[in-house]
Amino acid sequence: MTTAVDDQALERAYSSVSETYKGTGDLHAACREARAKSPIFVGDFIRQFGIPTNAGLQQGTRPTFALFRHQDVMTVLRDANNYTSGFIAEGLGAFFDGLIVLAMDGEQHRSVRALLQPAFMPHTVNKWREPIDAVIRNDFLKEMIPLKKADLMEFGLGVPIRVMYALLGFPTDNKEQYRQYAAWALAMVGGNQVDPQRFEEARRSAGVAVARLYEVIHEVVVERRAQGSPGEDVIGNLLRAEHEGRMLDDHEVTTFVRSLLPASGETTTRTFSSVMTLLLTTPGLIDRVRADRSLVPKLIDETVRYEPVATFKMRETANEVQFHGVTIPKGSFIQCMVVSANRDEEVFEHPDVFDIDRRVKPSFGFGFGPHMCIGQFVAKIELNCAVNALLDLLPNLRLDPAYPVPVIEGAQLRGASHIHVLWD
Ligand code: HEM
Repeated sequence: MTTAVDDQALERAYSSVSETYKGTGDLHAACREARAKSPIFVGDFIRQFGIPTNAGLQQGTRPTFALFRHQDVMTVLRDANNYTSGFIAEGLGAFFDGLIVLAMDGEQHRSVRALLQPAFMPHTVNKWREPIDAVIRNDFLKEMIPLKKADLMEFGLGVPIRVMYALLGFPTDNKEQYRQYAAWALAMVGGNQVDPQRFEEARRSAGVAVARLYEVIHEVVVERRAQGSPGEDVIGNLLRAEHEGRMLDDHEVTTFVRSLLPASGETTTRTFSSVMTLLLTTPGLIDRVRADRSLVPKLIDETVRYEPVATFKMRETANEVQFHGVTIPKGSFIQCMVVSANRDEEVFEHPDVFDIDRRVKPSFGFGFGPHMCIGQFVAKIELNCAVNALLDLLPNLRLDPAYPVPVIEGAQLRGASHIHVLWD
């Protein structure tokens, strides 16, 4: 591969996505008020925060409603027959040639999920625990330890990409190159814009990223097939998989893999940022977790409830439905406010308290129902290995008082931008 490498492309692409989805206003406060006043919002609730939705320019072209309660969000997300996702192919999906799992419905979605799922189930993914741990400790932390200080986000941006590219079956020996691919993947996500003019510009540059990614993935796929389709990674599995009684061709494997890239990297990075922010800023928590590592999964689960990366999910109604006495016509958009449902006082006691000891109940940070995150077990293993390795290898890890305390922000994609720390 002869791809030109731009050193800072990944950092720039990540910041640009953060800016695009940051918006304005206090989303938690607005949701709290909405939950108290009315469980349904008639209109485009999201618009007030100045962020794009997955519907792209279709947003605002049809009746729109927002739901805030745990029960309502669950009702919508679990029922993919009445609440569909196909519209995403025209919005965010436009940056993926329309070919993303997220935007598939019905039989097409079921068959693609069935194909991809085995590569992401716990029994497969658990085999990755040791290699992931080794990558984190050897490739990332070894060189960090003597520095005694760092912005943890450099680590948080690099680890998920390095891990996912290996899991997918990409060569990971050339760091600059796979970071460039990750930057292209982010350019596709960052292409979504509120302003129609910027949307068109972004669509053009995302189009370039889509094409470049296609080329590099296709090259790997063709090479792997020529070798007899070996390997337990995702590309190997897809090359050997049968799809509706036939094998997938190189084009299909390439587009599936391409659609996985943006979903897998920055979501984990942002969740990592929230996990570490809450771990370092909640009084006494880091000492407890350092001493009892069985708390790490609870820390991760509670973070995903308390500060889900994706604050809302959109669906389109396939039929007329009713919520709280309001009729929602067929073909409407529903904004499912995950960030609100995860703090519904009817379900979670003291919902605005970050409490890793709370009894586990379903929340929606990884989605729910047929489109629920396929990569959640990978993400959890990665986060678990990362937290444990940081606590093991960076003694007395603490916030650096020379820098501002990290803040979790963003109206659509939440996370902290910088986490400056010190260790002994
Ligand atoms: C902490 C990290 C992650 C978070 C918070 C997250 C969150 C989500 C959410 C909320 C959805 C549901 C979308 C919807 O209902 O419309 C989703 C879907 C998805 N995620 Fe993740 N994700 C993470 C990591 C990953 C990873 C590591 C992968 C790797 C393969 C991945 C792949 C996917 C895919 C392919 C879908 C679409 C599934 C479908 O439509 O059937 N995600 N993710």
